[in-house]
Amino acid sequence: MAEEKKFKRTLVTTALPYANGPVHIGHLAGVYVPADIYARYLRLRGEDVILVGGSDEHGVPITIKAMKEGVTPQDIVDRYHKLIKESMEGLGISFDVYGRTTSATHRVTATDFFKTLYDKGEFIEKTSQQYYDEEADQWLADRYIVGTCPHCGNERAYGDQCESCGTSLNATDLINPHSAITGNVPVRKETKHWYMPLDKWEPKLREWILEGHKEWRTNVYGQCKSWLEGGLQPRAVTRDLNWGIPVPIEGVEGKVLYVWFDAPIGYISITKDLLPDTWERYWKDPESRIIHFIGKDNIVFHCLIFPAMLMAHGGYHLPDNVPSNEFITLEGEKISTSRNWAVWLHEYLADFPGKQDVLRYVLTANAPEAKDNDFTWRDFQARNNNELVAILCNFVNRALVLTHKYFEGKVPPCHELTEQETAALNEFKDVKETLGRNIETFHFREALKDAMGLARIGNKYLADTEPWKLAKTDMARVETILHVAVQIAANLAIAFEPFLPFSAARLRKMLGMADVNWDKLGCLDILPVGHQIEQPELLFEKIPDEDIDKQIQRLERIKQENLLNNFTPKAVAQPCTFDDFLKLDIRVGTVTACEKVKKADKLLKLTIDDGLKGRTIVSGIAKYYVPEDLVGQQVCFIANFPPRQFKGIESQGMILSAEDADGRLIVVGPQGSVKPGVQVK
Ligand code: 2FM
Ligand code: ZN
Repeated sequence: MAEEKKFKRTLVTTALPYANGPVHIGHLAGVYVPADIYARYLRLRGEDVILVGGSDEHGVPITIKAMKEGVTPQDIVDRYHKLIKESMEGLGISFDVYGRTTSATHRVTATDFFKTLYDKGEFIEKTSQQYYDEEADQWLADRYIVGTCPHCGNERAYGDQCESCGTSLNATDLINPHSAITGNVPVRKETKHWYMPLDKWEPKLREWILEGHKEWRTNVYGQCKSWLEGGLQPRAVTRDLNWGIPVPIEGVEGKVLYVWFDAPIGYISITKDLLPDTWERYWKDPESRIIHFIGKDNIVFHCLIFPAMLMAHGGYHLPDNVPSNEFITLEGEKISTSRNWAVWLHEYLADFPGKQDVLRYVLTANAPEAKDNDFTWRDFQARNNNELVAILCNFVNRALVLTHKYFEGKVPPCHELTEQETAALNEFKDVKETLGRNIETFHFREALKDAMGLARIGNKYLADTEPWKLAKTDMARVETILHVAVQIAANLAIAFEPFLPFSAARLRKMLGMADVNWDKLGCLDILPVGHQIEQPELLFEKIPDEDIDKQIQRLERIKQENLLNNFTPKAVAQPCTFDDFLKLDIRVGTVTACEKVKKADKLLKLTIDDGLKGRTIVSGIAKYYVPEDLVGQQVCFIANFPPRQFKGIESQGMILSAEDADGRLIVVGPQGSVKPGVQVK
């Protein structure tokens, strides 16, 4: 096996979220929590690491949001940059710097980067047809144009990407394109732009990734391979837009750098903001490594386009790894900002104060590392109650309570070890290596299992040794057992630091651990004999059903609202004649009796006073009505339908009902009381 390359320092970046909305659990599970675990782990090992993040504040997503609210793009980015930055801090994402792409440093850095490529002749200038909205008097770049995706048929695909199938698009690929501003069908007009000739860089990219980075995650490697096999095309790096960094070419007006050109340069400019004098060490020294944490929709930009830009510029080194996660769904459905189908971080922090680590734990235990995964509130509750409380908290609490009970909170001495200690030790002696390797290779779920494994070992050890039963007969043995148990608790304070930093800090405080030393993981001499530990407090507590029910009810409300908001009446049917209408004999009747039809969930049997002999009608409205409530009500029915059999009952007609946006059926009747049997005309 080739010897592993050693690096002097590591730059960890996280995808810069658009500052047009708050961050949600999809962002966290995909990017921020794993990146934070990774950076915290490296710091714990005493390595030179910086975690760089910030807001992506340019591009059409921002201007669209501003347009919808009738405010300026600057208002939007100021609002969301603050909200995102504060909520990330709230969750303990340990950024060394959280910058923004509207900063002065960024404007200069991105402008210089573009100029360098321009002066080196790295761009192609091309005039092409682009969409234009004549009423709005505006070019329709990227998300300003909406239409049907030619790949999956999604009718709300954008001019740059279909969010349904993830395909990257050109606006001119869309079927039935229309303006997101006015809804008009746009015209095409000629405009000049600058393109990165990705085809020119294809051989180098191919060699660098397909030959040089076979260790990348399968999803990342596979996506790059498929792009490269499809053949790379030149990509426009400028746009006709008035929000962004102006194209720095003399005589060019009303054009800005494409947001995907300037955003990754943000990683460089934000590093400069952090380290104005030494930033180049992280970007240019071959002994440094760069790791980009991103979501899967960003793979092409980070693995192909940005590296091609860096190659064209020269002087920078390329990312060493781009660990990209798949997506998480929420209660079985795709997370959607526009449909409010998300768990928003700032709301979570307000609803579950002090429970940052629970969310970090659940998102890591269920991280979408190899495939999409689902987040459900019941799973969240179960993982808290059955794992964090029942395993981790329970062990720590027992170990510390017993130490206080028998030894006034002083770490007891360790005497002769028995097979029980050797068995426990054997199980966790390799934890440092296993857990470390799992984090270094971006297997965070597995790494978390390793850490939790330690707590399981601790629980088993206490259950097997039962020190509380030995207190009267063999105090020396109790000393050894609790010595080992307290040391396991100290191991937990180290192992969980990258994953659950708030709880690890509380545990360290309880144990009186001045520092946290990764090298001590797996050892039984972390706390010296006689060391005083504090009174224990519970690290986690059960989350009651009511708290979870509230969250589920919130999602149900949102689902209802979406159904109503998204309702569009069907197109009007083919014309019919008055004669056609007269063929239907619609009448009013009064319900005189109503009951459920046996063995049919959906059906009600209604007895109707129709002014004649009376009739029975079976109707599929059982889910929406309590039978007694319908008795006495007047309903409209079609009287001349041929009779039909339902579950052995003859139905003599059809009750009219309106189907609401959520599929609910509501029976239709006259506004005032009328004689049973009158016709509806
Ligand atoms: O997909 C997004 O949300 C982009 N704003 C990510 C940009 S990552 C980097 F290039 F800045
Ligand atoms: Zn699609």
